[in-house]
Amino acid sequence: MTDTSIDRLGTEQLRDRIAAELERTRARTALLTDVVDDADLMRQHSPLMSPLVWDLAHVGNQEELWLVRDVGGRPPVRQDIDDLYDAFKQPRRDRPSLPLLPPGEARAYVTTVRDKVYDLLDRVRFTDGRLVADGFAFGMIVQHEQQHDETMLATHQLRSGPAVLHAPPPPEPRASVGGEVLIPAGAFTMGTDTDPWALDNERPAHRVDLPAYAIDATPVTNGQYRRFIADGGYDEPRWWSAAGWAHRVKAELSAPMHWRRDGDGWLCQRFGRWAPVRDDEPVVHVCWYEAQAYASWAGRRLPTEAEWEKAARWDPVTGRSRRYPWGDDDPTAVHGNLGQRHLWPAPVGAYPDGASPLGVHQLIGDVWEWTSSTFRGHPGFTAFPYREYSEVFFGDDYRVLRGGSFGTDRAACRGTFRNWDLPIRRQIFSGFRCARDARPEESRP
Ligand SMILES: [Fe+2]
Repeated sequence: MTDTSIDRLGTEQLRDRIAAELERTRARTALLTDVVDDADLMRQHSPLMSPLVWDLAHVGNQEELWLVRDVGGRPPVRQDIDDLYDAFKQPRRDRPSLPLLPPGEARAYVTTVRDKVYDLLDRVRFTDGRLVADGFAFGMIVQHEQQHDETMLATHQLRSGPAVLHAPPPPEPRASVGGEVLIPAGAFTMGTDTDPWALDNERPAHRVDLPAYAIDATPVTNGQYRRFIADGGYDEPRWWSAAGWAHRVKAELSAPMHWRRDGDGWLCQRFGRWAPVRDDEPVVHVCWYEAQAYASWAGRRLPTEAEWEKAARWDPVTGRSRRYPWGDDDPTAVHGNLGQRHLWPAPVGAYPDGASPLGVHQLIGDVWEWTSSTFRGHPGFTAFPYREYSEVFFGDDYRVLRGGSFGTDRAACRGTFRNWDLPIRRQIFSGFRCARDARPEESRP
């Protein structure tokens, strides 16, 4: 079933679908918070991250605010804790010193809220306005929890101590892919008006005309990135922007985060285990400045956000934009490495069934891909249901990432889905691919 078919669902089927998504999502939250002890849940593993127990109660608090109070019009469960779990009032570095709900209380709180939401779901009329049409508010809360689950997964990657997360390795390559794909000049539809659970920053659909360009068929791999390191890429200011070089020096960057040298090779740390860096996997844990420096060194550039989306969605036969590179159907295990099924990116060529019509691979899943674009509203943007979801982040500070990572759930990942972060951030599951302008002889129709 695709999300676009939500509006064809009967009310009872929509209720069932929402309940299933809420349940599936809560199981993931429980997994991420049950595998460590209470002291670990309360600890701050990095100043960049919240204690896991903050994320847990914050997820419940947002669910209470939007569903129990706003949609349901019910009395508050715990109004006294609203400020503690307000992400805007409490910077991450300060969260460990707050009088947070201890783990037992936090679990009881999110369960109480969820019980009220199930009760509300039984009675809600999806015709009662835009917030609940097609179950939007419920979909927004599912996506919010999944986004925090990915954040909690990133916290797990930063925590020290024995490994607690386990998953089978990603699939091996089934196709030999590499090089670049030429995307012909022309207009395509970016964004969406029709995906019922698409968030405000993905709307509205609008036409964007692009000149011809070439984009990598796969994300940049560890093997490619190692050549940049070996060639002295981190010692050569000319590959870096002024701000990027200043950051490289100050933060003493010399390789992706979680790498360490091992003789002539490299090891990388994944959720408490060290493994040799594998050359055919997409590079992960690089910041925007590193991605930009690599692209310059390679004689390329990062794609714009529009270039990324056209490569991912444009169908040259019909001219329409698909929900995903492979079509309109929701992702399954053959399409891409999503949903924490595996704990690191899959080697390139592992998902031929997920490729776009023009042969661009692994756009969805594996690693979030940095684009050159700053975060803005699409033309005609209106904030919904609140400015703090994305509008307050618009401007020059943030760079857009697209496509989702191995830690992104399918509910929070579409061909139109937009993520953003500061150019110095690399604790997220971020990688990139390169692009370039087409040469004149390539641009002829
Ligand atoms: Fe949040």
